[in-house]
Amino acid sequence: MNQHTKALMARGNDFLGSEWAILCGAMSWVSERNLVSAITNAGGFGVIACGAMTPELLDAEIAATKALTTRPFGVNLITMHPQLFDLIEVCDRHKVGHVVLAGGIPPKGSLESIKQGGARVICFAPTLALGKKLLRSGADALVIEGQEAGGHIGPVSTSVLAQEILPELAEDNLVFVAGGIGRGEAIAGYLEMGACGVQLGTRFACASESIAHPDFKKAFFRASARDAITSVQVDPRLPVIPVRALKNKGAEEFTAKQIEVAKLLDEGGIEMGEAQLQIEHFWAGALRRAVIDGDVENGSVMAGQSVGMVKAEEPVADIVAALLSECEAALAHRRGA
Ligand SMILES: Cc1cc2nc3c(=O)[nH]c(=O)nc-3n(C[C@H](O)[C@H](O)[C@H](O)COP(=O)(O)O)c2cc1C
Repeated sequence: MNQHTKALMARGNDFLGSEWAILCGAMSWVSERNLVSAITNAGGFGVIACGAMTPELLDAEIAATKALTTRPFGVNLITMHPQLFDLIEVCDRHKVGHVVLAGGIPPKGSLESIKQGGARVICFAPTLALGKKLLRSGADALVIEGQEAGGHIGPVSTSVLAQEILPELAEDNLVFVAGGIGRGEAIAGYLEMGACGVQLGTRFACASESIAHPDFKKAFFRASARDAITSVQVDPRLPVIPVRALKNKGAEEFTAKQIEVAKLLDEGGIEMGEAQLQIEHFWAGALRRAVIDGDVENGSVMAGQSVGMVKAEEPVADIVAALLSECEAALAHRRGA
């Protein structure tokens, strides 16, 4: 079954040790034991989102996930976590097979430290040049993620990144494509361009097994692609890291806050450092407020543009099956089968 898909995903499947090279990208607060084990048990590859967890919490989360699945899963670590090397040690102790490094260029020694323990490292490549550099530094696979994605994003679309990077790197290296994938036909397209697999987040965030609050899920089901907007930077002195999330009251207040702080700066009522800190801290805890508490008005409802294709709560296994059958049909059609 799904033989064309299997053939094109073969390298990705071998690398991940999963039946299908479909990663569920780590989503802070969402990608915990329940969703991760469900993805992995459905034949995909689940990834725990470590986010700001302490080493102790990560240790407990990995142990709990292992109790729910015997199949391989990964752990996503944020490179600027102050205890990154302790977290790597926790992954090593648990013999986690794949560590995904997100959130910027991996600090010196981190790739080596992960690989010393025998795990494979997956890195995000925002440009072709950085992708090449990461591979030279020892990354075992790359994820290229376009700006359609939910959460923290870069400035370039998935389709352009895929055209720039896949022809150069995908034949000799493992490259997964992420951002804006909602259906299997898109997966087929990227596989045919040389990707060894794909990563989805938004499509899985509201699966039945996801612990996200019912109101978070409802916000997803109601939303269309154009509701998933990027955070806006108002003043060049006050940098804002672009995040894609559903527009809500919090987003409006964020704009108002930036205007207020910029005005204070103009009037000399506030120091630059303090001003930037206020902007940086505005969203602290906001994803948790949305995902766990269900405050979808003030929290950060991170979602990609594919949110319009998420219409109802479905079991992970059904989502994976739908993606595979759409992908297979598209591949078979193009081959005249
Ligand atoms: C709610 C949410 C939270 C996310 N949190 C993280 C995170 O903590 N670390 C990370 O590397 N990516 C994070 N992402 C990005 C996903 O891992 C994944 O790469 C992305 O969702 C793929 O694009 P898509 O949303 O278009 O499918 C998050 C995405 C969403 C929707």
